[in-house]
Amino acid sequence: MSEMMWGGRFQKAEERSALDFNASVSYDCRMYKEDIAGSLAHASMLADRGIISKEDLEKITGGLLKIKKEIDEGRFAFSVELEDVHMNVEKRLTDDIGDAGARLHTARSRNDQCAADLHMYMRRHIAKLAEKLIAAEEALIGVSEKYKDVILPGYTHMQRAQPVLFAHHMMAYCAMLQRDFERLTGCYEMADASPLGACALAGTTYPTMPKETAEKLHFSKCYGNSLDAVSDRDYLLQFLSFASICMMHLSRLSEELILWSTGEFGFIELDDGYSTGSSIMPQKKNPDICELVRGKTGRVYGHLTALLTVMKGLPLAYDKDMQEDKEGVFDAIDTLGFALDIYAGMLGTMTVNGARTRAVLENDFSNATDMADYLAKKGLPFRRAHAVVGNAVAYCIENRKVLLDLTMEEFKKMSPLFETDIYEVLQIENCVKNRDSYGGTGPKQVKRQQREAKKIVNRQKKLAAEWKEANAFIAVSYTHLTLPTTSRV
Ligand code: ARG
Repeated sequence: MSEMMWGGRFQKAEERSALDFNASVSYDCRMYKEDIAGSLAHASMLADRGIISKEDLEKITGGLLKIKKEIDEGRFAFSVELEDVHMNVEKRLTDDIGDAGARLHTARSRNDQCAADLHMYMRRHIAKLAEKLIAAEEALIGVSEKYKDVILPGYTHMQRAQPVLFAHHMMAYCAMLQRDFERLTGCYEMADASPLGACALAGTTYPTMPKETAEKLHFSKCYGNSLDAVSDRDYLLQFLSFASICMMHLSRLSEELILWSTGEFGFIELDDGYSTGSSIMPQKKNPDICELVRGKTGRVYGHLTALLTVMKGLPLAYDKDMQEDKEGVFDAIDTLGFALDIYAGMLGTMTVNGARTRAVLENDFSNATDMADYLAKKGLPFRRAHAVVGNAVAYCIENRKVLLDLTMEEFKKMSPLFETDIYEVLQIENCVKNRDSYGGTGPKQVKRQQREAKKIVNRQKKLAAEWKEANAFIAVSYTHLTLPTTSRV
């Protein structure tokens, strides 16, 4: 087989173990539609430039479309002996149509071919992830509106600090995902460049038109340096960085949902549809999904570290090490896609226990800052006010009270500046309402955040629709493929 693949230089077929180790078809077959689209565009450019005949182009086009249909329908048998999706398709084409098929690889190398396929694959999946990311943002906005009046303790150092609106807390996560979308936009722009025409590494002696091929594949630009074109994997590293950061955000949210659904907190209850039970303890309802999102964040970080490490010592141009670029990226796409889908559903169905979060706040000192601000607004320097309230808290702890239990007499003893309006100021609702500074937790500020977030979502939807449109010519599902892993299984 390898004699056929590499031609006359080889006297002997590849060792079975070397062949299995070398093969990437078990995972790069995901890119079959990109591969066929790329070949169609390349052949058409070759014919436009008179490098192959119109008859050859016709045969190639017919042959490729037939192969595509077979793969679409799960009738194509990929062979590990042919290493990758590119060789599988090309070999089959040549078997089917003869010399015309053998001319397809003129002025092309697998180095620019596999890079082009991956660029297209990333673009298409970034477009899909964009939709999922938007759905998760909308779920956060939705749950923040549904529980708009719920107040819960805000924490620093995991110690209760100041009351905040639950909606404010959710909108903080929405802001994170909206930044993720900006990063994803950068990923799309980087992926949207065609390496075709670079050939193996140095360009070609044929009068090709890389810009024309790029246009046929809806790429908005092509690489200006052939060595860079075949050896650049920055766009994948950028994607893995985006995916790592986005997973980190989901992981932090997961951690909070896990904590909040404990008996100790009891702030939320996840819907049964997003929870699991225990095989031994009948009372258990476990937040497995959140834990898995937190856990799977590790593998996405791993893929980023792995690819950075693969790339760090590679001399120009293509080195086989680069074949290691795909599995981690594919897994990151799947993992993040899953996590975003699940979060969109899980947030929409969870229940928030506002009575419980309120009860917690009524028994603590989250309103202490408001008491200090009260004194400071009456002219006492803030540091002195801070000390007065610190003493008041210590006094309350000793006498098993909270600040609102203090009598006017006790207040007066602490500072003559206190008047009866202190009782209003210390009400939890007022602590929230009065934090009306820009970006604060006051209800007006939170409403503004929701309004602005929705505007951003609308802009993102337009962009996501443009991306979807630009990649529509490649839309594909690969789930029905029977994936060969090695020839041994
Ligand atoms: N399967 C290879 C990959 O994914 C294709 C490129 C191979 N190029 C080469 N010169 N061996 O990287």
